[in-house]
Amino acid sequence: MPNLAPAEPLAIAGGTPAFAGPWPPDYPGAFFIGEEERREVLEVLDRRSLFRYYGPETPDKVATLEREFAAKIGTRWALGLTSGTAALKVGLAGLGIGPADEVIVPAMTFIASAGAVLAHRAYCVFAECDESFGLDPADVAAKITPRTRAIMPVHLGGVACDLAPLLAVAKEHGIPVIEDCAQSAGASYRGRRVGGWGDVGAFSFQTQKIITAGEGGLITTSDPAVYERAFRYHDHGGYRFGQEGVRVSGSTAAAGAEEAAPPTAQLEAIVGEVYRMGELAGAVALAQLRKLDSILALARRNKRRLVAGLAGLRGFQFRTVPDAAGDAGTRLNLLLDDPGRVDAFCRAMRAEGVPVARVYGGLPVYAADQIMHRRPGWAVDAADALRRPLVPLGDPYGPPVAYHMGMCPRTEALLARALVLAISPLFTDAELDATVAAFRKVCGALL
Ligand SMILES: Cc1ncc(COP(=O)(O)O)c(C=O)c1O
Repeated sequence: MPNLAPAEPLAIAGGTPAFAGPWPPDYPGAFFIGEEERREVLEVLDRRSLFRYYGPETPDKVATLEREFAAKIGTRWALGLTSGTAALKVGLAGLGIGPADEVIVPAMTFIASAGAVLAHRAYCVFAECDESFGLDPADVAAKITPRTRAIMPVHLGGVACDLAPLLAVAKEHGIPVIEDCAQSAGASYRGRRVGGWGDVGAFSFQTQKIITAGEGGLITTSDPAVYERAFRYHDHGGYRFGQEGVRVSGSTAAAGAEEAAPPTAQLEAIVGEVYRMGELAGAVALAQLRKLDSILALARRNKRRLVAGLAGLRGFQFRTVPDAAGDAGTRLNLLLDDPGRVDAFCRAMRAEGVPVARVYGGLPVYAADQIMHRRPGWAVDAADALRRPLVPLGDPYGPPVAYHMGMCPRTEALLARALVLAISPLFTDAELDATVAAFRKVCGALL
């Protein structure tokens, strides 16, 4: 049975838009910045101590953030970093990922998930996603090789992947898991927060994230060896313990690293980077963390109202949500039955004032130029370029790797039907009802 034809003409055909607008901007955490963030930041400025490890009067904002974040996720440690991408890189370094290792990455994700792997000169092995938009455990199992060193589930849009079957596959093969939690801070699966299931969780505080410091990131882990490597990688590959003026006491991170550190003679050499979080970002992220659950409560309430309002409509299905109670509530995802109607549907919804869009432009992550068409300057010819810049030529690095469309056909077909709508935690009931009215109009006319 088709949807009910709309009583009003579509806005795209000259009718009145269902959502009078303006549409609330997609900056969930940023809109909750207030007195608390101001107070934390001013304390850092007043103490003139913007660096976490030393300064005139270090306020330990990053260390406090780490302690409270780890407690919320249920891990032993958290480590504050400069971005979510840095968190993935540092997390992978913590797992010991290096050149020519293979990391299984979902075909549907943001470029950073794959980029962090490639930046370590490791290979991405792209696996299919299912209708939950999470990694398909059967395809992950099929893509494991003797070179597989990590599996990276990505919790897209506030929804936790179905982790139980993924972790079972990982465990069976003895492969560590790094969860990309950049879009899903605070979301949970079976009562435990994301970032607390795998060997490492990676979070982002970039400005569009659920909580934000403008830029920033953090990893969570309970594994001392992972933490120890990650800690050194994020700070030049070494330790500051014992250096004059370095603040260790009161800093859980530094104290934890000291505890996790093996005797110097046994240390693996790590050529580190500099991904340390500064006290200003730490101050903002700390105040935001303390608001996380109240932001989630609003977002969840709004998503429930929106989903209930769409009940009975035909022509699409909702993305499956493995654990609805843990959904952060920040995104609505739909799969239209007919991929041929996606563009017309998006255009009509936008005309109604509701900015529905394709998920990642309808393309898998490996379609990105920097992955599929890499042509490093030092490649001698096109065939050589396929080997670089990811790994050097020759043994023990194996055959050249080319990335091309068709690698994950089920995910490509899924993306051709996939839509996303950001749900602001600040929506009023009237705005949510207008959004529902827009869906009802457009579904009635087009699906
Ligand atoms: C899934 C995913 N992973 C990683 C990142 C990287 O985070 P950042 O922008 O903080 O580097 C993002 C950011 O948008 C993301 O969406």
